[in-house]
Amino acid sequence: MNIKAVQGFKDILPGEAVLWQHIEHKARSIFHRFGFAEIRLPLLEETELFARSIGQTTDIVEKEMYTFVDKGLTLRPEATASLLRAFIEHGLHVQQPVQKLYTMGPMFRHERPQKGRLRQFHQLDAEIIGAPEPAADAELMAMGSMLLAELGLTASLEINSLGCTDCRPAFREQLVTYLRRFAGEMCADCQRRMESNPLRALDCKSQHCKKVVADAPSILDALCPGCRDHFDRVRDYLAFLGVPYSVNRFMVRGLDYYSRTTFEFTTTSLGAQSAVGAGGRYDGLIAQLGGPELPGIGFAMGIERLILLLQQQGELCPAPAAQTEVFVAALGEEAGRYSLALVHLLRRQGLRAAMDHGGRSLKAQMKQAGRLNARFTLIIGDNELADRKAVLRDMAGQSQEDFGLQDSPETCADSLYTLVTNRLPVNERPDCIRRD
Ligand code: HAM
Repeated sequence: MNIKAVQGFKDILPGEAVLWQHIEHKARSIFHRFGFAEIRLPLLEETELFARSIGQTTDIVEKEMYTFVDKGLTLRPEATASLLRAFIEHGLHVQQPVQKLYTMGPMFRHERPQKGRLRQFHQLDAEIIGAPEPAADAELMAMGSMLLAELGLTASLEINSLGCTDCRPAFREQLVTYLRRFAGEMCADCQRRMESNPLRALDCKSQHCKKVVADAPSILDALCPGCRDHFDRVRDYLAFLGVPYSVNRFMVRGLDYYSRTTFEFTTTSLGAQSAVGAGGRYDGLIAQLGGPELPGIGFAMGIERLILLLQQQGELCPAPAAQTEVFVAALGEEAGRYSLALVHLLRRQGLRAAMDHGGRSLKAQMKQAGRLNARFTLIIGDNELADRKAVLRDMAGQSQEDFGLQDSPETCADSLYTLVTNRLPVNERPDCIRRD
């Protein structure tokens, strides 16, 4: 058999999974501090949900979705549409006027895989529904910045406004008029989309298009008074909260549902894939999907990109692989039975306990204890069991002492548990480390 993982779909091996747990744990902790509740969503939705929200003429809907054509179903390319579908379907707005929800998990886009770009990738996604105020925009961006900061990562926050249905149409016309003059100099995609989605030209990566749009009109000069005021107040609040940012007037997003504020957390360390996270406001989208007239704003961070950044900053990585607190090295059949019960009871008490079932030599078992990063090893042979006297080795201090074995493994587990936990640093004791 030579079956391999599908291109763009990646296994996450145990060594790397530790980083995933670290990121997910940190994200949950921060989302909860900001009052967000978790929502878990299906991976498969009706195709129409994405076409209607993300937009028919976007790259995602035009060419990147994994769709079961005969069934009219699609693997979600992002989380916002699914989250809003669930929000509307379950009438969540009735319970609370403002809802803060987060979700995390895999998304699917058929893009060309490269560093930081996969076909199955994972997002941390947070959405605030029902808050039209600019303070909500600033709060959300502050939360994203806090997450990056607590992970020890540096990224820049860029913001823009895309206006609303009042001011964007006029800007769009103005932009199309400008772009038409240079159509011959632009890439095939931008030429094709010039009438249907001209804003995309503003962040096209082609050098020719970049030259053309350098002098293009800016949407920031075309905002209506409401959007202007909103944008100015978002900027004020960001400054007030001490969140550094810069304005990028060329930023447009690859999804059509945005209005007013859009933002990206960018880095120069990931080659072509500069966005670690991105989001924006989508007032109007919930109603467009058949729900109530409620505003919304959210962002998503790409976990794989966060991992790449963490790996580049090696010293900031959390300690690898969980430590084993007690390894029991059993020598002989009776000792093996007794140890099996002992290890089971220690685990029930909350310790990470391990043993080897292979009847290997003491040397081999000590090696295994070392591989598992064990703090203590209890050595029990059949003779020791008969004498009720085992040896407890402190693996860090390399010292050892006798440890009396009681007849009942229960009593023995109790005293071993007390001895071991008293010697562990306070922050490594089971009630501390297994709080979550
Ligand atoms: P997005 O910009 O398409 O926005 O994706 C957000 C983040 O997901 C990106 O910044 C990137 O870190 C990660 N990402 C996207 N595509 C890939 C890929 N192929 N491989 C690896 N990582 C990827 C959204 O998805 C919006 N739903 C964000 C949002 C939430 N807007 C409002 N609420």
